[in-house]
Amino acid sequence: MTPFAAFESAARSISPQAAVILGSGLGPVVDALKCHAAIEFQDVPGFAAPTVQGHAGRVMLVEWGGVHVLAFRGRMHFYEGHDWPTCTGTVRLAAKLGVKTILLTNAAGGIHPDLNPGDLMAIRQHLPLLSANDWKHSLHAGPYTPDFVAKLQQLSAAGGTPILAGVYAGLTGPTYETPAEIRALAAMGADAVGMSTVKEAQTAADLGLRVAAISCITNKAAGLSADKLDHSEVQDVASRPDVVARLAKLVTDFFSTCGETT
Ligand code: HPA
Repeated sequence: MTPFAAFESAARSISPQAAVILGSGLGPVVDALKCHAAIEFQDVPGFAAPTVQGHAGRVMLVEWGGVHVLAFRGRMHFYEGHDWPTCTGTVRLAAKLGVKTILLTNAAGGIHPDLNPGDLMAIRQHLPLLSANDWKHSLHAGPYTPDFVAKLQQLSAAGGTPILAGVYAGLTGPTYETPAEIRALAAMGADAVGMSTVKEAQTAADLGLRVAAISCITNKAAGLSADKLDHSEVQDVASRPDVVARLAKLVTDFFSTCGETT
């Protein structure tokens, strides 16, 4: 039996209800959970091994907030040189294994003036700025389940830290934006900016999954602060213990109430 066949058979007997894609930072949290099976990205057909610092590439079947969850520890990015079908392989695997709800997490730069490093944001809509004809696709209602946006806000407020529900602009990277691009994105209505999530959310919604997404704001977007923007700053904020604890609590609370939203 290949490692993938063994993992798939474990997943089929456990039937996870939900999936989560973890951006930078939450790796140690998922490592501490009860894990029933795990597989490296390179052993999953169609997946690619990670090339970015701070991103492991592992799929795990864990218990999180009392539910069985298919957890992707890391993701595949377009800026790593992968095509879109590869980048969305995680979501298609989740759908194939019968998952009904997916929670996407990412690191993002804050554009909205109230968003500071360490804040979380529930994504309510996105601006897909990934290729020339993205505008055509952005006319539909959007992939994020409104009940989940409300739920993420309620859970955060109940935990004492209300969060904004905002618009995520998804660009391909690999470079961070220029200050002029950030001013343009602000004028277009973006509250945060990042290099992932959009295609995953679209693919998941197309496959009939309900989608929730949280951005962890790791920096003020280019030109909005005096700090120089680099990947190590993004990683430092994403792995700050208070930030990890707040995001981990929100994810746990989300999963523990997962079955309640109809
Ligand atoms: N821009 C794009 N992607 C990001 C940023 C940013 O400022 N921060 C973290 N991911």
